[in-house]
Amino acid sequence: MKRLIIVSNRLPFALDSAGEDLWTVTPAVGGLVSAVEPVLRERGGTWIGWPGIAGKIPQGPLAEATRDAGYNVVPVALSQTERDEFYYGYSNEVIWPLFHDLQNFCNFEPAYWQAYKQVNERYADAIVRNSRPDDFIWVHDYHLMYVAQALRERTRSQNLSALTFFLHIPFPPYDIFAKLPQQRRLLRALLQFDLLGFQTRRDERNFLQCVRRVMPDARVISRGDMDVIQFEQRKIRVGHFPIGIDFNSFEHDAKCEAVARRSQQLRASFPDCQLMLGSDRLDYSKGIPERLRAFRNALERYPDMRGRVVLIQIVVPSRVEIPRYHEFKGRIDRLVGDINGRFSTSTWIPVQYHFRSLDRIDLLAHYRACDIAFLTPLKDGMNLVAKEYCACRTSEDGALILSQFAGAAEQLKPDALLVNPYDVEQMADTVSIAFCMNQAHRSTRMKRMRRNVRTENVFWWVDSFLAAGSRLTTKVATQRRDIQRRTVRR
Ligand code: UDP
Ligand code: G6P
Repeated sequence: MKRLIIVSNRLPFALDSAGEDLWTVTPAVGGLVSAVEPVLRERGGTWIGWPGIAGKIPQGPLAEATRDAGYNVVPVALSQTERDEFYYGYSNEVIWPLFHDLQNFCNFEPAYWQAYKQVNERYADAIVRNSRPDDFIWVHDYHLMYVAQALRERTRSQNLSALTFFLHIPFPPYDIFAKLPQQRRLLRALLQFDLLGFQTRRDERNFLQCVRRVMPDARVISRGDMDVIQFEQRKIRVGHFPIGIDFNSFEHDAKCEAVARRSQQLRASFPDCQLMLGSDRLDYSKGIPERLRAFRNALERYPDMRGRVVLIQIVVPSRVEIPRYHEFKGRIDRLVGDINGRFSTSTWIPVQYHFRSLDRIDLLAHYRACDIAFLTPLKDGMNLVAKEYCACRTSEDGALILSQFAGAAEQLKPDALLVNPYDVEQMADTVSIAFCMNQAHRSTRMKRMRRNVRTENVFWWVDSFLAAGSRLTTKVATQRRDIQRRTVRR
């Protein structure tokens, strides 16, 4: 088995200064870390990434945070300017909104691109220092799309292992991608990888469409289950690999005593009510205001639901230093206030709102306690919360209302209640359908969704990606041998 080198901007924990020589270590939130961490824990390997603080990385707290990880951690440091221009800037004010089809939210500040390249080069240096030619190098997500190009500029290509990349977020259609000032440079950089993985068929199709339109020198050839792009004498394989979760661990932990106790407590706090769960990072792509408006609309139009349903909305703080995220929180606060102000009675408050992250027991207890999950991203790479909800429904009941624009909809669509997150009235109607759905009907759907989430789990995802990658490393090795042979003969 090859040694696995994971490279992502986020390490699975974040360090934070709590005063002079005092540090806190908190688990990082988000789908990438949730999915990749159990894989590295099981297989071992190395994780190269940023521990979330600007400036010098304190060695003591870092050693403490990584002691029991079960894999090596190589930290990459970012200065304050790099954090602002690479992480907050190009990654989160250009690529994130654009790739979620929200081009009006983009800040195309030219200086951001320079910082993006510079930090990607830093990552390339870290890979060179910490890998051997026969390692499996797997770069993750939109922060690091320039890494392969930086690596190829640094090393003679025959000394490189196969370079692979997986995008956790959506890839936009051409009409949106075309707004990116660096569109050609970015595609060229992506084509320096040997294998490119996307979440869904739709993302893969969008990417290929952009390559066809923007890169006239590239030739797209379809080959069975994977596409191949011929570019500058190299072949790049492209496929979709929907990410999964560690199903068994969620199912197992959901059954434990502490989760059962906490879940009963939650249910007991809202007697005679169905509980509906929304759980998201604070992000404008998650459709939280639209969801709240839909809930308000449902309470207006379906008065039978008043006093009989509670929406528990968990919002996990995220990227709060970016002004748009901060403003967005204000919008959510106001909507929650409006709904609770209008509909609350002396015995019922319609929205329970938590602005904080939950520990695992509490999170799983929420999945277990809630009859309905209401997840309505405007666009989402996958949405692992939807899959985690299914895995924790060990009683095989519960209804899932899911945005048609979440990657998970491609796998769960026959049984999830799909909604258009821009259509508040349709979402309100769907809330009413879920509320009235009988147990037998809920259970048939949930059983099928659980089967899918159990089978197409995170280990299945890794295996299919690594299998596609290892076919490739054999080819790269053969090519390298051929080049060496030719050199020796000469
Ligand atoms: N999550 C978390 N802490 C919380 C609530 C959620 O770590 O308090 C996790 C959740 O379990 C899931 C991830 O955050 O694994 C969110 O992943 P998703 O794909 O739904 O969205 P993303 O945040 O990656 O955009
Ligand atoms: C999404 C992205 C991840 C990112 C996570 C949390 O899941 O795909 O790459 O790590 O959000 O965002 P943050 O900015 O805190 O890393």
